Amino acid sequence: MRIILISGKGGTGKTSYASITGYKCAEKGLKTLIISTDPAHSLGDSLDIELTGEPKKVMDNLYALEVDINNEFRIWWNSAGEYIKKFLMSRGLEKAFVDEFSVPPGFDEILGLLKIRDFLKSDYDIIIVDMAPTGNTYRLLSLPDLLEAYGLRLIEIERKVVGVARRFQFATSIPMPPDDVYVEILNLYEEMKKLRVLLSDPKQTTIRVITTPEVMSIKETLRIATFLDLYNIALEAIVVNRIIPDVISEPFFREWKESHRKNIEEIEKIFKDTEIFKMPLFSFEIRGLDQIKKASDMVYDNKDPKWLIKPRSPHKIIRDEKTNQTIIQIKFPEGFEKKDFTLFQEEDELLIHVGKMIRRISLRDLKGDVVKSKFRDNRLEIFMQNDSNYSK
Ligand SMILES: Nc1ncnc2c1ncn2[C@@H]1O[C@H](COP(=O)(O)OP(=O)(O)OP(=O)(O)O)[C@@H](O)[C@H]1O
Ligand SMILES: [Mg+2]
Repeated sequence: MRIILISGKGGTGKTSYASITGYKCAEKGLKTLIISTDPAHSLGDSLDIELTGEPKKVMDNLYALEVDINNEFRIWWNSAGEYIKKFLMSRGLEKAFVDEFSVPPGFDEILGLLKIRDFLKSDYDIIIVDMAPTGNTYRLLSLPDLLEAYGLRLIEIERKVVGVARRFQFATSIPMPPDDVYVEILNLYEEMKKLRVLLSDPKQTTIRVITTPEVMSIKETLRIATFLDLYNIALEAIVVNRIIPDVISEPFFREWKESHRKNIEEIEKIFKDTEIFKMPLFSFEIRGLDQIKKASDMVYDNKDPKWLIKPRSPHKIIRDEKTNQTIIQIKFPEGFEKKDFTLFQEEDELLIHVGKMIRRISLRDLKGDVVKSKFRDNRLEIFMQNDSNYSK
């Protein structure tokens, strides 16, 4: 089974592209499921069919669902959500605020992504995920690292302390979390770790980022691609949407066409190792199966909608027996320099900072210390000296 994630800035055409690609896959005989994880669903509007939280048949081989976030909360965050509400109310906060704060921002999208795991053992050939505009999702994918670094041991300790306190029924005005809360948090942590493993396997999961040939959208695409490289998620293609077609020759569009041409050149330069897939501005609204079919015939022609290229992992680990070193290689888009990266080693963790993003990589299994780093051919290389007696 293949999983294709569709990401990008708001309004660039993610939902339309998901419908077009899903349609083409189904037409080619692949059993296809499109999942919308965007809390502001619009997949049903695009396909022109009422969707629910479970797969609904759209046509032969094509199924779709819009994740029911309330339901996912009940499954994953019931006790924790209730406890946070109780706690905040005991501190005098009003109910209206409490409802807002019981859910971390961006959490709904992560719960949406966890829904993919329900279908891993199903007979779908391909799952296409129509994601929300980029925001908190990617940041939240780093949550398991953070919990591992700071929280996990504390959570276990607190769980024991609270367990004892609960047994002796200490009188306190602060409500104590029931054990379910810890079970839920730890369970979610395990599931998010599994989700990360699934997203980092390029044979199974890839991502296509939708952009328009405009500077703001390109900047966002670069941020997304950098994140994907840091987190080892394979970028399969950049889809450039709403390109003004050549047949348009009205003077009003002359400047737009020229800026599109320049911006597409820029995209091709920044992502020179990535498939660039072009989609024109259509003369019609892509809504309902007839229009979706028309658009999918125009853009896919005889291209395979399932695979645009065979993607590679951004991370590579190379072992050098001669020097007894391990080299972690991470590729990045064009335009970065060594000074854009800051590296730290904290005990058995490597921290890579680039811009406002941080990636923590556990060095536990690699058994060694970072000795130097290099940046060449858009690749960050981190050299570790291995030591068989290594323990930290
Ligand atoms: N190439 C195109 N030609 C014409 N119309 C388009 C094209 N791409 C998208 N649209 C239209 O633009 C609107 C926004 O597209 P869509 O909903 O697919 O974007 P989105 O990235 O999913 O937005 P959001 O970030 O809100 O989820 C829709 O009305 C869609 O029909
Ligand atoms: Mg959308």
